[in-house]
Amino acid sequence: MSSETLLQVRDLGVTFQSGSRTTVAATGVSFDLRSGEVLAVVGESGSGKSVSSLALTGLLPPPPSCVVTGSARLGGVELVGMDEAGLSAVRGRRIAYIFQEPGTSLNPVYDIGFQIGEAVRLHRPEEADVRAAVLRALADVRIDDPARVARSYPHELSGGMQQRAMIAMALACGPDLLVADEPTTALDVTIQKEIMDLLARLRAEKNMAILLITHNFGVVASFADHVQVMRNGRIVEQGPTAQVMGSPRDAYTRGLIACIPRLGEKRRRLTTLKDELRAS
Ligand SMILES: Nc1ncnc2c1ncn2[C@@H]1O[C@H](COP(=O)(O)OP(=O)(O)OP(=O)(O)O)[C@@H](O)[C@H]1O
Ligand SMILES: [Mg+2]
Repeated sequence: MSSETLLQVRDLGVTFQSGSRTTVAATGVSFDLRSGEVLAVVGESGSGKSVSSLALTGLLPPPPSCVVTGSARLGGVELVGMDEAGLSAVRGRRIAYIFQEPGTSLNPVYDIGFQIGEAVRLHRPEEADVRAAVLRALADVRIDDPARVARSYPHELSGGMQQRAMIAMALACGPDLLVADEPTTALDVTIQKEIMDLLARLRAEKNMAILLITHNFGVVASFADHVQVMRNGRIVEQGPTAQVMGSPRDAYTRGLIACIPRLGEKRRRLTTLKDELRAS
């Protein structure tokens, strides 16, 4: 694995302004991410996980509704304050996103092949054979019959296949960083595992970094190199996964680890959580 720092985030902040109402959605967010590394971001709903990742490529409302401060350098190049033309070149090509609901990110009126083809045409205009690139992208995500899936419309595919197609679209342009925001939350447990295994293989094959936003500590434990815990827009704890999960310093982290279900495990009962917190 390369030790080159791909993304250096320092004191990143996101503030929403609506009339006289100011919401500090993220503040003081700092971390480094190296090529091929997986950083998991965990924390309760509304803690600022999504907005901090969206801020990297300007996928938030423009000022004055939303103001992004601090620094995020990708390969040494500052993203905060970059103009729209620059950011749209980064989006997809260097930083790609996949979200929880593939159904909402895929366009229902176009077949899968067309949609992946559009991503290739947009981000890799030098690609001479778009169709071959589409079939390769589908084969990359271990879809057995790429030609058939390319001809399919989103509603003709299962949730797991839709998520594979989304991943194929995100990876078609060979990004350096994949932001995966709750990529398996909407899927069945067995499919969740397949998708996480797929992401793990792709990360190794392509030396691609992954910023993984998840509620699932089972996924964190088996997949992430580092973990970052967010609460109320701030990072309350971060470090190597084994360290944070093995001996969490923060009471909030201990609570999260105790009550979030492992992959395929039922949520533990609150009484168990209280006993565990008392014992720790
Ligand atoms: N477009 C927006 N306008 C105003 N406030 C917003 C906007 N998007 C997010 N927020 C606020 O920013 C804060 C952080 O939201 P964010 O979506 O990052 O949370 P999250 O940690 O991803 O939560 P979840 O686990 O539910 O996805 C929340 O208080 C949210 O209400
Ligand atoms: Mg979110």
